[in-house]
Formats: sequence, structure tokens, C-alpha cells
Amino acid sequence: MTLVNETSPIHLRDYRRPDWSVETIELEIDLGIDTTEVSSRLTLRSNPSSSAPLRLDGEGLELLAISLDGSALDVHAYRYDKGVLEVDGARDGSVLETRVRVRPAANTTLEGLYLSGSREHGFLLTQCEAEGFRHITFFPDRPDVLTRYTVTLRADRERFPVLLAGGNPAGNGELPDGRHWARFIDPHPKPGYLFALVAGRLENIQRDYVTADGGKVKLVIWSEANVIDCCHYALDALERSMRWDEQAYGRNYDLDVFHVVATHDFNMGAMENKGLNIFNAKYLLADPDSSTDEEYRAVEAVVAHEYFHNWTGNRVTCRDWFQLSLKEGLTVFREQQFSADSNSASLKRIEDVALLRRTQFPEDAGPLAHPVRPAEYREINNFYTATVYEKGSELVRMIAGRLGQDGFRRGMDLYFERHDGQAATIEDFLSALGDANRIDLSPYLAWYAQAGTPRLHAKGEYDAARCEYTLTLSQQTRPTPGQPEKVSLPIPVKLSLFDRQGTMLPLHLDGDEQADGTEKVIVLDKGSQRFVFKHVLAPPVASLLRGFSAPVVLECDYSPEELALLLTHDADGFNRWEAGQQLAMLAFDSLHEGHHSDACKAWCDALAALFEQHAIDPALLADLLTPPGEIEFADRQSEVDPGRIHAQRQTLQHRLAERIGIDALLARYHALSANAHQHLDNASQARRRLKRRVLELLALVDAGQAHALAAKQYESAPGMTDRLAALGVLVRDRAPQASDALAHFRQRYANNPLALDKWFTVQAQVPGDAALAIIKQLENDPAFTLKNPNRARSLFGAFASTNPSGFHRADGEGYQLLTERLAQLDALNPQIAARLATAFNGWQRLEPLRRHAARLALESLAQREGLSPNLSEIVGNVLQ
Ligand code: ARG
Ligand code: ZN
Repeated sequence: MTLVNETSPIHLRDYRRPDWSVETIELEIDLGIDTTEVSSRLTLRSNPSSSAPLRLDGEGLELLAISLDGSALDVHAYRYDKGVLEVDGARDGSVLETRVRVRPAANTTLEGLYLSGSREHGFLLTQCEAEGFRHITFFPDRPDVLTRYTVTLRADRERFPVLLAGGNPAGNGELPDGRHWARFIDPHPKPGYLFALVAGRLENIQRDYVTADGGKVKLVIWSEANVIDCCHYALDALERSMRWDEQAYGRNYDLDVFHVVATHDFNMGAMENKGLNIFNAKYLLADPDSSTDEEYRAVEAVVAHEYFHNWTGNRVTCRDWFQLSLKEGLTVFREQQFSADSNSASLKRIEDVALLRRTQFPEDAGPLAHPVRPAEYREINNFYTATVYEKGSELVRMIAGRLGQDGFRRGMDLYFERHDGQAATIEDFLSALGDANRIDLSPYLAWYAQAGTPRLHAKGEYDAARCEYTLTLSQQTRPTPGQPEKVSLPIPVKLSLFDRQGTMLPLHLDGDEQADGTEKVIVLDKGSQRFVFKHVLAPPVASLLRGFSAPVVLECDYSPEELALLLTHDADGFNRWEAGQQLAMLAFDSLHEGHHSDACKAWCDALAALFEQHAIDPALLADLLTPPGEIEFADRQSEVDPGRIHAQRQTLQHRLAERIGIDALLARYHALSANAHQHLDNASQARRRLKRRVLELLALVDAGQAHALAAKQYESAPGMTDRLAALGVLVRDRAPQASDALAHFRQRYANNPLALDKWFTVQAQVPGDAALAIIKQLENDPAFTLKNPNRARSLFGAFASTNPSGFHRADGEGYQLLTERLAQLDALNPQIAARLATAFNGWQRLEPLRRHAARLALESLAQREGLSPNLSEIVGNVLQ
């Protein structure tokens, strides 16, 4: 077959400093829904070591006027072709002026300048990361060109009463014919990807904030009028994030205003534009009636994430897009630290590791595998991945762990001191952290360059005569596309040893003089290494990789009893959960092979005992009672049958529910249901989480009773968490009460798009062959549209990426439907189409029938005419 992708890749090794940079840009923008005119005035600086002509990026711009140093250019003095404007005669200090026309309402890609909502009521906004600015004006659209911005917006006052751009406000006023203007000056030089504007009818809530260093800041959150009351939680989260960054990193905010805007039409989660963050409404709006506890936490995390970018991303930006994880991995890490400080640290760690395993491990194990710092790409928007974000954060965490809290802070201080106002690299980051601590961190660069999840093999041997415990660690990383050979990486392993009563033992590591304490980090930095612990009086159980100290797959031949011991006694909440997950894996494998299982019994017994312990945090208990997901089980198998995995995971949970017993489940459910309310404190959230889990388990052993309780819970729920939990049980079980509840929900939230998304999602997750017909029916709901990314994801993303037994039908109809819709979506919004297509990752490991069907569907998609570079890169890579 023909290769779908014809564009040539960009390589990290080809990086060259820009030939031209731009000292200042003055933009004057006449806004209109159908057409907007953008006048720009660039002061150019030439790179003395280059003689290349001036070349600027520009995509889909209608050029109306162009002049250089005050004289209009003759048509022979410039060329605009294939996204590049080349201009003759520019010198150092030249001023280039252009005027272009763009068409916001016709822009369905949600990149560049576009319209959110309807022509009558919607508003205009921009998304420029990674390469959207070139859709607005001609510019060297690369992150290492830092420029000072002056932006003047002009528009009809009636239609666009609010005019916002990044930077500080610098005047506004009236114009003839009912028009008005507003100017913004950003004192901090920034790359084009951080430019933003917003214009329309918006309401706001605001608050004054004084930074630790005395700066006065106005914090303003903007949204459409009907949801402005749902912005208060985000405003609180913003203030808390700002305080936290002052305290944890000594970082203050640096403009007079901080604007945040919510939109329902957004490709990603949110965007850290300097002084004007723009959010997918899903990550900004929150109210008890329509948001779950998880969604509240997500709002808090994303608000923090975007705010933290002001230093890790904006003040210090990336030299090129290969360095994307420099800002994203680091900012995810900072966001995770903040969330851990604000909520429960071990629950947060469980959540993060579960996410990593569900999203990043499969990516790293399949045809889309790429290093945290890729060496090449075709379409940069395809590299906003779990690897760059989540694995990138794990790498920062590993390094931070190596330096300790004070050492990491010293390193970050030096990083900001050295690189403030610059476009930096991952080498710069590691050097600053290392230099501040006189440690050579360069061995960690290999983690950034090598794709694939390392397998860490651990083997313990006890020598009773010598009272020694020898731990042999070895590592191996399987080949990934384009990387057949792998090197050994430094792997920090945090560990403790337990005796058979579950007591932690003091550690005496041979060769380590000041060895004491009960927890220690050892670093495997070769292929294989032995660590000897002395004065160990009886065979211990090792609790390895505590807190998930490195993003690896641990392979250790634990017996079920050893895992049950850790599950019961490990004081580290994360490793306790982890022991339970490993034990559930063993239990699952033994079910898979079809014989009677000690592991299953050990898992059920240990959890049933913990279930009776009322001292344990209900949220942790809920997580302990949840086995790994279907995707994680599939990840361990060489030939995947998603239907069978679903059935076996159900069996596993059924055994657990049986072992705990209907009476105990019912009693706990009723205890947790007493005076339900919607308070957001951790204890109340924890109770709701456990209540949902108990209801789900009960449904496995007494469906009739559980469904009756769920129907009642649905009706009387004080907030969305309980309501959606109940609806989920009814819908996934296809209970008789489901259709009334669904009809009620559909009507109640008819005008609430975020709540309605959940209505689509919960149905898209019905397991097994029933799902397809449901999807086809939901597509015909008048509220369904492919044009809105949240809606498209709520149906097709949920179906293809979170419902393996529904999507991977043996007859291949799931694949056909998805590829059909991907082709349609691609014509509207290539970024979203490419993202949804990653659901095919892993198809090569499906059992033969499904594998064949997936290949056919993918090949026929690949052969379609006119696919976007985004979608064809993903389909091409997935197929190889
Ligand atoms: N920088 C944004 C963040 O905080 C993500 C924006 C990416 N947008 C895109 N179209 N690739 O994570
Ligand atoms: Zn980010």
C-alpha cells in the first residue's frame, strides 16, 4: 500500500537559530465575525551570522497590503506560497508592515482566530499553540522568537462589548459608527504561541490579589452570562495556586491583570496565553448540580497547571517544539505537587499512576511510542501526548527525588535565574538542577531520548546463615519503532523491607555506612546490579518502588501471601494500593488460565478484612476495592480479546463482592448514604467515592436490590457525584430503571452542554455488543454534533478509548463506524480527528479476527483522498 504521509519530518538535530527575530510587534485588529483584518508592524532583527532572506510563516492569510520601511512592496519583491512569505530587501532594523484578512466564522479547526458559539451570540477567541499564530498574521512562528507585543483591538461595541488581549491594559476609547477600541501592552517578550485575544459579550467575576512581593493584581474570570455563577470555584483555585507558587517556588505573578476565559469550543484542556488564559469550559466551570467531585478536582488541577505555566513555559519557554516536555512535564509535575498538597498525597499518587498506566504505558508499548523528547515529528499537534506530559512529569519527579526537596528548589531557583526571558532546552534544565547541587544529572538525559517503558526485574534471595537479603535488580526495555537498541537508564528504587508480621525492618545496606532508617532509595544504573542487606533475621518481604519512584513495569515473583501482606500492612498508601493491584493481576492471570486461584482468594480475603476496618480512609478503600482497568489487563497480554477481558474482570469483581457479602455491602451502603449532601471537603468526597464503589459491587451480587437503590439514589441525589454514580450503574447494567433516569437527565440538562456530555458518555460506555446500536442512536440526537470537540469526545472518545469491549467488536463494525466519523471530523477539525484515531493504538495485539477487521478499516481510512497531515500521520504510524 502507499504511504499516507507525504510531508517530510522535522528533526531535532536540524535545529538552527532563527535567521530573523522580531523585537516588537504592533498589531491592530479590526474584528468581525465573518472577516477580521489584521495589521501588523514588525521591527526586525537579523541574525549577524546568517544572510538568509526574510521568511515569515503565514497560513491561509489573504494579503491586502505589504510595505517595507515605509514603502509599499512591488509584487516582485515578495512571494507568498505554501505557508511562507519571503520578502526581499529586509535589513537589520527594517520595519515590515502587512495587512491581512482572515475568516473566523468559517474556521472550524479551532486553531488561530475562531468563533465560539453561534453567529448571533458567540464570541471570538484565539488558540495559537503550537502554530496557530501564523493563521492570524505573518510571523516567524517558532517558540525561540521572543517579541514585545502591543495589541489594539477595534470592534463594534454592541456586538463586542468586551475586548481582551494578553499583557496590561493600555487605554481604550470610542470610535465613530458605534465602534470602540482597547489596547494592551505586554512588557514581557513572548513567542507567538502565547498571543491571545478574546472579543464578545462576556460577564466576569473578579478579585484583587496582592502578590508576596507586593504587586497588585486584578484576577478576572470571564464566561458567557448564563454560567458566570459557576466560575467561583475556579477563582478560588486560582488564588490558591498563586499563593502556592509563591510559597513552594518563590514565584510571583508579573502583570497587573490575570484574565481567564471559558469557552465550550476548545481542542484541548486549556491554554496558558500570557495574562489571558483560555479554558475549555469543562475545566473551568463547576457547580454541585452539574459537576462531580472528580470534575472539581480537575478544575483545580487545570487552573493550577495553566497558572504555573506563567513561570514554567512563559517566563522560561521552549527553544523548539522538541523541548515541549520542558514546560509540560515540569508543569504537570508542579500541578501534581500542588494537588497533593491540597488534597491527599497518596490518593493523588494513585490517581496519577493509574492515569499513566491507562494512557502512557500503552502509548509507549505500541506503534505510536516516542521519547519524552521526540527526535522528529511531522505534525507537532500530534505530540501533545501522555508521554510528553505524564511521563515527562515522572522524569521530573525522579530527578526531584534524587535532589531532595531543598536541592530541587535550589535547582529550580538557578534554572529561573539563568533562563528567565529565554527559550531553553532540556539540557539547560538538567544543567541548572545539577549545577545547583553539584551533581551530574546528564545520565537522566537518556530517559528523555529513549522511548518504551523499562521493565525492572527484581529477585530477592535470603541467606539464613549469613542473615543477608540480596536483591538483584535488572532492567530491559523492548525495542520501539525506530529504536531497536536500548540503553540502561538510572532507575531509582525506593524500598522498605517487612518482616512476616508486617513490621518494617531497619535497613543495613552493605557498603552504605550511614545506613539506617526503614526506607531507602537505591539506584540501578547498569543492566543488572546486586544489593545486599545485612542483619536481616528472617526472610523479608520487599516493598519496592515505593510511591512509584520510577516509571517502569516492576516484575517481581511475589507470592500471593507476600502481596496480601503488603496490601494489609504497608504504611505507604500508594504501595498498599499497588500491592493490591499486583495481587489482582495475579488473580486475573489465574482466572485467565482457568484454574482455581490462590491469588484470587488472597486478594478477596485481604480486601474483605480491610472492608471491616473502619479506620481506613474511605477513599483509599474505594481505590483498593477497584482492580486494574481493562486496558491495563490488556497491556499484559500478547493476544487481546477485549470481550473476554471484560468478562474476566467482572468475574474477579464478582468474587470480591461475594466474599465481602451482600449484607456487609448493604450495611456499608446505607451507612454511607445517611444524610447525603454535596459538601466538597475531603471526607465527604471520600464517602461518596466509597459509596459508589460499594453500589457497583452490590450490583454484581444482587442486581435487583442494587438497581432499586440506584434508582432511589438517582432521584434523591443532592449533587452530580451521586446522581451520575447511580445513573452509571443503571445504564451500564442496562437495568429496567435506566431509561426513565436517562430521559429525566436528558431533559433536566438540555441546556447544560457539560452535563449533557456526561449523558452521552455514560451510554457510550455500555459494555459489549450493545454499545454500537446505542452509539448509532445517540448520533441522531439533535444535541449531537461533530463540530464541538467536547461533544465528539463525549460520544466517540468515550466509546473508542474507554469502552474496549464495546468498541472492539468481533465483526469490526465499531472500527468501521469510527473510521467513517474520523474522515468526516477530519474535514472539520484535524486535531480532534487525529486525537480520536489514537484509539486504534494496540490493534496489532488483538486476536486475529479483530486484528484483521481493524487493519481493513485503517487501510481504507488511510487511502481516502485529502486526509489532513494530522490524521494521516497518526493513521500511518499506527499501521506500520
Ligand atoms: N499548553 C497547553 C497546556 O497547558 C496545551 C495546548 C496545546 N494545544 C494544541 N493545540 N496542541 O497543556
Ligand atoms: Zn500545559
